[in-house]
Amino acid sequence: MPRVSGLSYGGDYNPEQWPEEIWPQDVALMREAGVNLVTVAVFGWAWLEPAPGAYTFDRLDRIMDGLHEGGIRVCLATATASPPPWFSYAHPETLPVDADGRRLTYGSRQAICPSSPTYRRAALDLTEQLARRYADHPALAVWHVHNEYACHNPHCWCDTSAAAFRSWLRARYGDLDGLNAAWGTAFWSQTYTDWAQVQPPRATPTSSNPGQLLDFKRFSSDEHLANFVAERDVLHRLSPGVPVTTNLMTGSCVNLDYWAWGREMTGPDRLLSNDHYLLGEHPLEAPAQIAFAADLSRSLAGGPWLLMEHSTSAVNWQPRNLAKPAGQLVRDALAHVARGSEGALYFQWRASRAGSEKWHSAMLPHAGTDSKIWREVVALGGHLRALARIEGSRTEAEVAVLLDYGSVWAQEAPNQPSVDMVAFDEIRRWHSALWRAGITADLAAPDADLDRYRLVVAPALYAVPDAAVTNLTGYVAGGGTLVVGAYSGLVDEYDRVRPAPLPGAFADLLGIRVEEFFPLPAGTTVRLEAAAGTLRPEVADGTVGPDDGATGAVWTELLAAPDAEVRARYADGPVSGAPAVTRRDTAGGPAWYLGTRPDDPTLGRLLARIAAEAGVRPPVSVPPDVEAVRRRHADGRSYLFLFNHGDRPTEVDAGGVDLLTGLRHAGPTPVGAGGAVVLAEGPA
Ligand code: GLA
Repeated sequence: MPRVSGLSYGGDYNPEQWPEEIWPQDVALMREAGVNLVTVAVFGWAWLEPAPGAYTFDRLDRIMDGLHEGGIRVCLATATASPPPWFSYAHPETLPVDADGRRLTYGSRQAICPSSPTYRRAALDLTEQLARRYADHPALAVWHVHNEYACHNPHCWCDTSAAAFRSWLRARYGDLDGLNAAWGTAFWSQTYTDWAQVQPPRATPTSSNPGQLLDFKRFSSDEHLANFVAERDVLHRLSPGVPVTTNLMTGSCVNLDYWAWGREMTGPDRLLSNDHYLLGEHPLEAPAQIAFAADLSRSLAGGPWLLMEHSTSAVNWQPRNLAKPAGQLVRDALAHVARGSEGALYFQWRASRAGSEKWHSAMLPHAGTDSKIWREVVALGGHLRALARIEGSRTEAEVAVLLDYGSVWAQEAPNQPSVDMVAFDEIRRWHSALWRAGITADLAAPDADLDRYRLVVAPALYAVPDAAVTNLTGYVAGGGTLVVGAYSGLVDEYDRVRPAPLPGAFADLLGIRVEEFFPLPAGTTVRLEAAAGTLRPEVADGTVGPDDGATGAVWTELLAAPDAEVRARYADGPVSGAPAVTRRDTAGGPAWYLGTRPDDPTLGRLLARIAAEAGVRPPVSVPPDVEAVRRRHADGRSYLFLFNHGDRPTEVDAGGVDLLTGLRHAGPTPVGAGGAVVLAEGPA
């Protein structure tokens, strides 16, 4: 964690956008708000190196010193996310090229080819200069490498990238026979006979080879990661003992294989951090979006992590930028903390006067300190100080939701049976269904150690390597409960269809046979019929009949269940009468299959029921609209976070000292409309 005392609180600080007279005011206001950590120089390259090799650190010295005098620590960026115009102008080959061969230009940010050795060299030079100058500065708390890798430049199709892609493929396959076999190039007469012929998937008359597309995504993630590792290692060498991080975007970004990134961002002197912004107009409600991003960040970190950025209110990059009503600022920040963040930081400290982000909210808004945002920023600072004792405690989860980036990418290839089968959306939908049922879940890779989970769900696992199949089979054999979603287990990690019976990876484990896909027309649904109460327990009335109102959407298939019990069938639609939901009771645990995408309430109730059968218990039983999450120290001390997302006061059957108010509640504990409570549980 950053070298600050207690939880971290602050945001991106861009003093270069302001006259120096403002800087002391900034520090004074930071102190008023309880800020103890700010991120400096994220976009600092142009003022730190205004001409090639002409490093000018006098302003940064004064900024660092001023913050130090004010008792505020610094998350110091390596400033490599946005090369200045002089650099891109002098080195046009470092600019990214799109699939159509169009070279993008500078004038925004991240105009970088991730495989450019010229960029890498310049970035490492700047990193080294910063590390040498500030390694021993007393304000330095953590190093912040680059910024949101691959946010705007996930892939590059230039000649330099093409050469790097070929090297990457040679290392992966050894020879062209291996590559031709993996990509299935016998199809459409695309067999490669010389490495020089192999290209990134540039614009071509129709769909590129899916294996080529998949490997290009893997390669691109690795190229960005290599840039991170190179900067990180300079910092480890020159600034030992200071944690190094970069800010991920776990809630929305599927351009990078974050499991690989997590491995490079954890361990001694490393910190996993994340940025999260709410999507105002999205099928998932705001707290569910936060829960997913935070749960994934925690899972990548394998424990505590840090929220590096979020927004105090509206952002500026959505079609309609919805502001946060009173109270949401505090709830949103604490929701990340509940799920393992050791603090809450924002983009940004002071709202910018100019540039693309001038209408993005900030801790210090254009309206100044006589504002709703500022008052809530000050209140949150107090709350985070009051929560100092939770530092180091861990969020508890008994369920894992499987996420495999390679599988998500494979499913992104064109020419799938249905464009509506989007994997990442479905993974988030299942996570939200669990969230709505009050169940905290981790995310996990399919080859991870899953033994500690009572329940593992695989909402969308289209492409699955053999090792992961063995892992999941072992998990069920050991007594675990597994639920697999439709269109899973069909192809290997090269996107080649597995041999029959389908779904090749899971046919035997689930006791099913998929014969033919019957995707549904857009917007249509099919009815699901089950023993009363199977899918919708609230309609159970002792009679046996259809599960009123349960539907499936997007996907159906002609399914047989030779070795599984049929728990629901299609009551209409193209495969009326065929099994839709199955369960196989193995010698170990039960293995469920959902051959369609059940509507949200049906999915939620089904998962809640399966979770309950698996022995999963929510942290506490809560009334509707209340979210509960527990963090616990290794010595057993625990904290129950309660959020009331509704507009009426309510109470929760739990007791302890509310750390935000200092009040002791013997139980039940009142939670005001839109309020948050953090109970230190147990005796005083
Ligand atoms: C990202 C970036 C920030 C800023 C915010 C705006 O998180 O890292 O620099 O652009 O988005 O929401």
